[in-house]
Amino acid sequence: MRTLISNGTVVTAAGSYPADVLVDGELIAQVGANLAGSVGVDDTIDASDKYVIPGGIDVHTHMKLPFGGTFAKDDFETGTRAAAFGGTTSIVDFAVQSRGKTLREGLDAWHALAEGNAVLDYGFHMIMSDVNDESLKEMDQLVEEGIPDFKLFTAYPGVFYSDDAAIFRAMQQTTKNGGLILMHAENGPAIDIVAAQLVAEGNTDPYYHGVARYPVFEGEATNRVIRLAEAAGAPVYIVHLSVIDALNAVRDARDRGTAAFAETCPQYLFLSLEDMGDGFNGAKFVCSPPLREKDPNWAELWTGLRKNDLQVVSTDHCPFDFHGQKELGRGDFRKIPNGLPGVEDRLDLLHDGGVVGGHISKERWVEIVSTEPARLFGMYPRKGAIAVGSDADIVVYDPARKRTISASSHHMAVDYSCYEGRSVQGASDVVMSRGSVVVRDGQFTGTKGAGRFIKRGTADYARMA
Ligand code: URP
Ligand code: ZN
Ligand code: ZN
Repeated sequence: MRTLISNGTVVTAAGSYPADVLVDGELIAQVGANLAGSVGVDDTIDASDKYVIPGGIDVHTHMKLPFGGTFAKDDFETGTRAAAFGGTTSIVDFAVQSRGKTLREGLDAWHALAEGNAVLDYGFHMIMSDVNDESLKEMDQLVEEGIPDFKLFTAYPGVFYSDDAAIFRAMQQTTKNGGLILMHAENGPAIDIVAAQLVAEGNTDPYYHGVARYPVFEGEATNRVIRLAEAAGAPVYIVHLSVIDALNAVRDARDRGTAAFAETCPQYLFLSLEDMGDGFNGAKFVCSPPLREKDPNWAELWTGLRKNDLQVVSTDHCPFDFHGQKELGRGDFRKIPNGLPGVEDRLDLLHDGGVVGGHISKERWVEIVSTEPARLFGMYPRKGAIAVGSDADIVVYDPARKRTISASSHHMAVDYSCYEGRSVQGASDVVMSRGSVVVRDGQFTGTKGAGRFIKRGTADYARMA
């Protein structure tokens, strides 16, 4: 199958230019002017007045994550299908090592969830719940198998929490095997004290989830894990960074020359603590780290993205229905499953708020939603590029089309949207995964199970810092 995408503006992290793109089979065969005469073209997509961008890569999703006695609603079929509608063509999901089990058992379970179900290509990070001699050895094997990153938590005591010794040991291991430690950096034990005090005082509404998780608890943990990484001589990546206290810790580290990287998420750029204030409705916005005060955090996060102290915007997609799941925490915010839906809306929110809103260029937009995730997570230039030989994961993007976000029209398997009624400018017209059109003009044309496991490499983190 040969497809010609004609008359578009190719937008990459490095620059934008008018060009046609010829796709042959699963790969990009040619990028250049006037390819209209190419022989043997089966399908032509007119991209006049549209951007032609590498498909989005969301390196932080949780399909079917077990949390608080329930499971995130999206599975690999519904979640990747929704991602495709939003112009994302690859995800990296978090496989979970349960306490007392091996990394291998967790990984096998995630392969079983994804294989035959995902409509898009997918990779895995590994959540480590037990750091011991066995699991440290297993890390080396996983790096070999294309799972080179491991998430540890300073939050959620009794669940995913690791102490400093465990984190330090895992970091030391990555200095030997070339992998990367991803850190959820919030001081969980301190948060639990404040949360218990708030509940004892009768402050049980979702809003107090946000109150209990002080910004300094994220700032302190971020600084601590970066210092531990420096001591181990390891690179480190801070996930879902939400607040200026943590951003400053990353900035300071990068100024010292440390290979410290960080992502933020749309919810920290477009939603705030105020959204959590509407009685139990606020449960729709319960995630960790929590939503923060708008000022000065939103502006600082945009500055961080512009200046490359933040390299990636992922979603931390982890949807729970309001009815029946978030409701588990009525009367005690600590029992609300943590996480928000978002995999479908990332590109459009970032285009609307970031590019149209004047915070970032369209080239930086492509960089933070696709190219840099590919580079940092060992997929570049196979993914994240419009270049000859790259996978034909391509989005024909209409920068002018407006749409309204709503649970009534989204494709995520969840009964609400955090952005209900919000109008955004910019939408995906055609989405291609390895040369196959998976979404065209609002219709899904992909195939359950067509997604393949992405065996990822390590990256040269020191050079990328
Ligand atoms: O609230 C969140 N972020 N839920 C998903 C689990 C995690 O910590 O990433
Ligand atoms: Zn986390
Ligand atoms: Zn997460």
